[in-house]
Amino acid sequence: MKITLNVNATPHDLELDPRTSLLDALRDHLDLTGSKKGCDHGQCGACTVLVNGRRINSCLALAVMHEGDEITTIEGVGTPDHLSPLQKAFIRHDGYQCGYCTPGQIMSATGMLNEVAEGWPSNVTADLEGDTDLTREELSERMSGNLCRCSAYPGIVAAIFDAAE
Ligand code: FES
Repeated sequence: MKITLNVNATPHDLELDPRTSLLDALRDHLDLTGSKKGCDHGQCGACTVLVNGRRINSCLALAVMHEGDEITTIEGVGTPDHLSPLQKAFIRHDGYQCGYCTPGQIMSATGMLNEVAEGWPSNVTADLEGDTDLTREELSERMSGNLCRCSAYPGIVAAIFDAAE
């Protein structure tokens, strides 16, 4: 099946089995290996990318579902010479150990901070409505889809708070 995926503001013409996941299309067909395959079952968040600014687990999505969408991977948020504010904060706060989950953590945090800035979703819990000042508990809940097997959570949380300011 021929499709065009818009990834990091660049259109890519691909010929894919319609059963190909978005994660496999990114990694195996576009050589964008920053998005990691941890569980391949939607449980770890290592494969998180943004689709039209919202974070998703790319292992759970079929690539063909996202023709016409704006897909952003870790390769699209910064370069070694021009890191994003969140990437710089992860370095400052040692928000990683082995680094395997880091791309997913940064993509998820990027999407999460967008959500908070937009007041979305406004109905998660009553106390989150209209609240743009994240508490540690709220941040942990919103980032709960991204696991770190090394338990570098203190640095991850500190980095996200730093970047959010
Ligand atoms: Fe997609 Fe784990 S690889 S959630």
